[in-house]
Amino acid sequence: MPIRVAIVGCGSIARRHIHGYSLVEDAEIVAMCDVVEEKAQAYAEEYGGRAYNSVVAMLEDEAPDIVDVCTREQDRDVPVIQSVERGFTTLAEKPIYAAGGQFSVAAEDVPVARRMVEAARDGGGELFIAFNYRFGDYAQELKRMIDAGELGEIYYVNASTRLACWSHVIDLLRWFCGDIEAFAAAMSGPEDRRTRAGSLRFADGFVGTLLGEGIRPAFHDMLRIEICGAAGTAVLRDIAGGLEWFPHDARQHRVLEQAHDNPREGFGTTFEREVAALCDHVRAGTTVPLATAEDGLRELEVDAGFAVAAERGEWVDLRAEWA
Ligand SMILES: NC(=O)c1ccc[n+]([C@@H]2O[C@H](COP(=O)([O-])OP(=O)(O)OC[C@H]3O[C@@H](n4cnc5c(N)ncnc54)[C@H](O)[C@@H]3O)[C@@H](O)[C@H]2O)c1
Repeated sequence: MPIRVAIVGCGSIARRHIHGYSLVEDAEIVAMCDVVEEKAQAYAEEYGGRAYNSVVAMLEDEAPDIVDVCTREQDRDVPVIQSVERGFTTLAEKPIYAAGGQFSVAAEDVPVARRMVEAARDGGGELFIAFNYRFGDYAQELKRMIDAGELGEIYYVNASTRLACWSHVIDLLRWFCGDIEAFAAAMSGPEDRRTRAGSLRFADGFVGTLLGEGIRPAFHDMLRIEICGAAGTAVLRDIAGGLEWFPHDARQHRVLEQAHDNPREGFGTTFEREVAALCDHVRAGTTVPLATAEDGLRELEVDAGFAVAAERGEWVDLRAEWA
């Protein structure tokens, strides 16, 4: 039996998802849905499936195994809720929801995201969030090193990223180091892409810093995550840029790097691996390392907490803030 996939939102990122499914032997795209009918028709002609301009009609007609929601963050809540409340397994792009756009996540977005997570729980449709950076070679190697205890006890984290990767980096920090419990933050710069800097306290007690900016050109490294443990310091550069390991007991350091010098290469692979993992999940129930609906909500709570902390000029305890 093929895995029947429906795409919602026939825009640019949908192409990456569709390409990923095309590489999964038993996946079949059965529906293309967009509120703009011509877009759905154009995608159906190019990639196959029937065209729809209504998510509900599409779900009723096709009953897909996977509903892949590639709408923008402002337009994510309605199609996701329509899908999960009817019990459909759903993948949604990131961040889970942001009415003002992904660079301006606000406190008001949190209750909407919570409704999405509750709809999934109540309706029985599983919801995953497309934090595909988890599927990068070096992100996976760093996660393996941390889980295997190769870094030892974590002492601190130091991360910086372009805003385009902001929610991915918050997700990666949570994935690598556990929940972020509290932080102080400040913001400056242009209104539509504010530079933000925060001091973090993780649930395990260690501290970190996180800076997001939209100033530098996109052709240099997009992100840098440095994690210092008792045994050494690991530095992840970009999603395909490399991983460096600086052991504390030796002067030599180890570099894991691909043979090419283009840090963007490998980005597409993360989408392919993500949708392949989702198909594995549908077939066999495996989930690792897909980001769950709760991961999506927690990531948004951290992002929204930045705005709250910066406005108040004081430390924000995330559990108390979003209780
Ligand atoms: N995971 C990643 O690395 C990554 C990279 C780039 C973009 N993204 C995310 O992908 C999302 C989509 O970005 P994009 O550039 O593809 O957007 P886009 O505007 O190109 O496409 C969105 C499409 O959704 C359609 N749409 C809106 N509401 C709808 C609804 N209710 N039902 C059906 N269709 C609807 C629009 O008509 C449009 O065609 C963004 O939230 C962005 O953050 C993720």
